[in-house]
Amino acid sequence: MKNGNTPDVNKWRSAEHVSGYLEIVDSRPHKEEINNAFLEQIPSGVQNVLDLGTGDGRLLWLVLQKNPNARGIGLDFSEPMLELSRKRFQDNKNVEIVKHDLNVPLPKEWCGRFDLVVSGLAIHHVFDERKRELYAEIFDVLVSGGVFLNLEHVSSPSEVLHEKFLVAIGKSKITDDPSNKLLDVCTQLNWLREIGFEDVDCFWKWLEVALLGGTKP
Ligand SMILES: C[S@@+](CC[C@H](N)C(=O)[O-])C[C@H]1O[C@@H](n2cnc3c(N)ncnc32)[C@H](O)[C@@H]1O
Repeated sequence: MKNGNTPDVNKWRSAEHVSGYLEIVDSRPHKEEINNAFLEQIPSGVQNVLDLGTGDGRLLWLVLQKNPNARGIGLDFSEPMLELSRKRFQDNKNVEIVKHDLNVPLPKEWCGRFDLVVSGLAIHHVFDERKRELYAEIFDVLVSGGVFLNLEHVSSPSEVLHEKFLVAIGKSKITDDPSNKLLDVCTQLNWLREIGFEDVDCFWKWLEVALLGGTKP
């Protein structure tokens, strides 16, 4: 189901859109802080990790830096991104890169398989109803004690703050990504709690970038 007037647009299959992102991603504000906040929350001793919307695999790579023996699966639906992540992990037999649209349910056979599920700036590309369904599917694919970490682009509480964020990342309403379907932090944390996650929190936040997560009891 759509979010109000949010258009049903997703530009991430386009090579031009992907290269535009990759040109700016390393110079985004607070990059080191974001990586450190994410690394701090990644448990050690991870055996099986799933990365949703893996892009060029940068988040999965961070997880594997901390857990070099873990097996990883990276999902994405964008051919240019899949090519980059396959290249990044070509020498790591423990990593599988799979083409998958996040609008489609996660495979049932993955139930109870992962002790860590991560996602970076990806889930806000599906509509809100699907976000919630996906969170429930993530709960299902985790083992008991498994952790979900979502480094997400979230909505601002006001238009003024949204514009402040766009300026801070060098964008404007005209150059903003029309693929975004942003949702506030509180709703997402409440959904995680309702689904059954515990120790749910927003572990880090700067304007519209937030690290959300929880643990499956
Ligand atoms: C902003 S990029 C983030 C990539 C990477 N996780 C990172 O942290 O740099 C968003 C990623 O989500 C993927 N994505 C967007 N919509 C998707 C969908 N419906 N199904 C699967 N992947 C999707 C895009 O292809 C892209 O790789």
